[in-house]
Amino acid sequence: MADQTQLTDPTDFGTDQYPHALVNVTNVCNLDCRHCFVFRANNPQAPRDKMNDATMLHQLKILRDKHGIRSMLFMGGEPMIRKDMVLEATKLFPESAIVTNGTYGIPSVPGHLVTVSLDGPMELNDPIRGEGVFDKVKKAVFDRDPTDGTTVMLQMAVTRQNAPGLEEFLTEVSQWPINGVAFSFYVPVKNDQTGLDWKDLKERDRVLDRVIALKKQYPHVVKSHIPTLEMMKSDVALESTGENGENCILRRDTLPLYMGDGGQFEKPFCCYGNDVDCTKCGAYAVFNRAYLEQQGRGNKSRYGRDGEAVIEALNEQVVD
Ligand SMILES: C[S@@+](CC[C@H](N)C(=O)[O-])C[C@H]1O[C@@H](n2cnc3c(N)ncnc32)[C@H](O)[C@@H]1O
Ligand code: SF4
Ligand code: SF4
Repeated sequence: MADQTQLTDPTDFGTDQYPHALVNVTNVCNLDCRHCFVFRANNPQAPRDKMNDATMLHQLKILRDKHGIRSMLFMGGEPMIRKDMVLEATKLFPESAIVTNGTYGIPSVPGHLVTVSLDGPMELNDPIRGEGVFDKVKKAVFDRDPTDGTTVMLQMAVTRQNAPGLEEFLTEVSQWPINGVAFSFYVPVKNDQTGLDWKDLKERDRVLDRVIALKKQYPHVVKSHIPTLEMMKSDVALESTGENGENCILRRDTLPLYMGDGGQFEKPFCCYGNDVDCTKCGAYAVFNRAYLEQQGRGNKSRYGRDGEAVIEALNEQVVD
């Protein structure tokens, strides 16, 4: 048993209450995806130091109790690089979800949600995520025990680069043994020069319309709500985000814990880090939280153990 007195306490993030949090359990990743917000300049990710397992579990417990955190999203870097610690930490929260690139296999977390990232059909995914990654992830999805009680979703981060493959992607993955497919859209930095963003939100509207059409074609596979997708459209999107995140419910109710200097947690501007362009934010969760709040369902569980909460999780599509 670790000596508690030797464990460092977390950074003081004030006294605000956050029902949700995400934690980058490591800054290490085996992939190097073009669109990844974690490894952008100005984000706490440069130091690759590691908080040891006992300290991380200790700090997560303290933060849970101090900030009233109910649901935790485990990501990174690649969280499965610290699989044992992550599986232990999922037990600390009533609702846990893991977002993984799937290259280390799909973890079994009965009653919880595992979101596996894939960014389109093989010919579009692999230039983004790496040669051979599509096949590796597909194998992992087919190799897992689909009756183990884990809810497994695929998530595609839609960019200008991979949007052409939306329909082909759905044709293929709708045949896979998964619980559904989630879409989130690119979150750019200010003056984004990557070419992954659309010229303007109007151009993105056309892609949203294609996702809406896919939802109608595959209602049980595509988990996006049409009303939420409509709230992402150019004429109304700013109402859910604000110019600088002032309307963003995700920013208000979710504590982002990035691994910063000295292996201590840091809190960036929002889940997507620092220097983000809120006016072009494509985070589905931002708009879904706004939608749920409009419906008076702002406090619903997201990744719970019970069936209802899992349904909600399927519709939520966190950062996911
Ligand atoms: C940062 S990754 C961390 C977890 C894991 N390594 C993975 O790839 O799933 C979490 C999710 O964020 C998505 N993502 C990365 N950069 C993004 C961006 N700029 N905008 C929107 N989503 C992004 C990824 O595609 C992935 O689904
Ligand atoms: S696998 Fe995840 S953390 Fe790693 S580079 Fe890709 S999106 Fe980023
Ligand atoms: S970038 Fe998106 S998630 Fe971050 S504060 Fe802005 S609107 Fe919210």
